[in-house]
Amino acid sequence: MSGKVLVTGGAGYIGSHTTLLLLEAGFEVIVVDNLSNSSLESLRRVEKLSGKSVTFYKLDIRETDKLLNVFSEHKIHSVVHFAGLKAVGESSQIPLEYYEQNIYGTLSLLKAMQKYDCRRIVFSSSATVYGDPASVPITEDFPISATNPYGRTKLYIEEILRDLAISDSKWNIILLRYFNPIGAHKSGKIGEDPQGIPNNLLPFVSQVAVGKREKLSVFGDDYPTVDGTGVRDYIHVVDLSDAHVKAVQKIDNLTGVTTLNLGTGNGYSVLQIVEAFQKGSGKQVPYQVVERRPGDIAECWADASLAKKVLGWQACFGIEDMVTDAWRWQERNPNGYDD
Ligand code: NAD
Ligand code: WQD
Repeated sequence: MSGKVLVTGGAGYIGSHTTLLLLEAGFEVIVVDNLSNSSLESLRRVEKLSGKSVTFYKLDIRETDKLLNVFSEHKIHSVVHFAGLKAVGESSQIPLEYYEQNIYGTLSLLKAMQKYDCRRIVFSSSATVYGDPASVPITEDFPISATNPYGRTKLYIEEILRDLAISDSKWNIILLRYFNPIGAHKSGKIGEDPQGIPNNLLPFVSQVAVGKREKLSVFGDDYPTVDGTGVRDYIHVVDLSDAHVKAVQKIDNLTGVTTLNLGTGNGYSVLQIVEAFQKGSGKQVPYQVVERRPGDIAECWADASLAKKVLGWQACFGIEDMVTDAWRWQERNPNGYDD
């Protein structure tokens, strides 16, 4: 199967990996991104790795007129929608910005799609919509809730998309709830390039290992988990991207709304991640235990069997690949794409 896929936020971490895999699968890819949290260098490297070109538009998805021009210039089969803001802590400080960029941005995109009769969308949702789950592993029918503005934007967008599908049966919508994406492409050419102090565990650990930060703060060791530290379902970004390719390939047959967890089904604690990273990189990762981070939950991992059934997808990479690939990217690009 081939055709044109519009990727919003395609210069970002998950977007650049997915763009690469879509190109490799034979799709033509059009990326729109305002580059607020990314650099065009990621797409240049994607082009080199794939030997194919990406059509790029620097625009903000809130600019509906510009999006309409993109749709008028290309017959787009489906949209993979990554663009948005994603920092949980920041979302509590500037909630209006999050609601505007994520929710208004999505409305703008959906209106442009509707106008051009393009009704197939794969949306980046998050395990954050499960709030503090009553038990693990988490299945897609668990109740959803949010504890911060970022999580609420994901939850509201999911609801908006469900309303849209009810109003018009021609929409095919896939909500992908990611657990914790980490790692990088095997080439070491593309990876996660956080601006400033990383919020997430893996980029922080990588920056400690490469000598950019002194030590990791482990947020609490008194959770009811294997060793007291938080447990998460880490998933390799290439596995995650592969699920998007399969979603695009199958979307014509998936009418209405399909909601899928993307995880491995395995949980690892913070200290298990530190240990695996040290082993994979041969570097020490000094750490100290500090207070719990407000809003954190003890443990969270997926039941990902529905994605296997619906998409024929399952994660292939284990934790060793995830940390080794994260380290290769970090070591070769200590300053991210600025190098
Ligand atoms: P990222 O910040 O690397 O990528 C987002 C991209 O969107 C960036 O290139 C940014 O410049 C662009 N962008 C932001 N606002 C825009 C706007 N208004 N118009 C146009 N472009 C805009 O983040 P990521 O980690 O690749 O995440 C991609 C998506 O997946 C996001 O929607 C995020 O909420 C979701 N998600 C991420 C994670 C994670 O841990 N990384 C987990 C669950 C869900
Ligand atoms: C993982 C574990 C921390 C940093 C977040 C969002 C979620 C989703 C993925 C977008 C936790 C611990 C972390 C550090 C630490 N994003 N930790 N020291 O919180 O599971 O999920 O990213 O949708 O919505 O909430 O990921 O990587 O921040 O934390 O000890 O410096 O590592 O307490 O147990 P989290 P994370």
